[in-house]
Amino acid sequence: MSFYNRVILPNLIGTACKQSPIMKQRAKIVPEADGVVVEIGMGAAPNLPLYDSSRVKAVIGIEPNAGLRKKAARSIQQYSLPVELVDAVAEDLPLEAATADTVVLTYTLCSLPDVAGAMAEIRRVLKPGGRLLFCEHGAAPDAGVLKWQSRIEPVWKVFAGGCHLARPIDRLITEGGFSIDKLEAGYMPKTPRIVAYDYIGAAKVA
Ligand SMILES: C[S@@+](CC[C@H](N)C(=O)[O-])C[C@H]1O[C@@H](n2cnc3c(N)ncnc32)[C@H](O)[C@@H]1O
Repeated sequence: MSFYNRVILPNLIGTACKQSPIMKQRAKIVPEADGVVVEIGMGAAPNLPLYDSSRVKAVIGIEPNAGLRKKAARSIQQYSLPVELVDAVAEDLPLEAATADTVVLTYTLCSLPDVAGAMAEIRRVLKPGGRLLFCEHGAAPDAGVLKWQSRIEPVWKVFAGGCHLARPIDRLITEGGFSIDKLEAGYMPKTPRIVAYDYIGAAKVA
């Protein structure tokens, strides 16, 4: 792995993902998690303070980047919630079928190399009736913003850990075999519009 991805990127992600406008967006959905939670791409674990400890039994944090796992491990020590950090990718989860009551995806779908493969794995590890909670940035509905998202994306991806700017999040979740039962979409305040259009909601296996 390059020095950039090993050292610089984890610091950029760790800082950017804990900014106040982003934390407010996460707080709209993460507290709904319950039971055994599988968090895909846990990053530096910014969601930990948002879990309701009276509802969540344990969190399994999937994170392939060693630098981010190190940051997450430091954060985990500050909370009483049982968290297991796992070095793995969403497309090949080392978990038994029907492990999770909730799967949490926050600002991760943009970076997954194989969305359909990841969605199949998420469906497999969810218990029957389990929920997928998501808070993801993606394609804006305004043609002018979408045009710039598509223009900048090829360069952005290189520096932002494979992050796509213009993914149609709701469509990808539906095409991944889920039925969305809750969705709020809109621009996050105080944020450049190319990264500000968030899809926040919940889905169940269709
Ligand atoms: C922008 S960060 C978001 C981190 C965290 N979810 C958050 O809400 O702040 C994208 C995350 O996706 C992770 N990631 C990238 N490819 C992945 C994959 N194939 N499977 C699981 N996680 C992946 C990255 O390592 C990184 O932690």
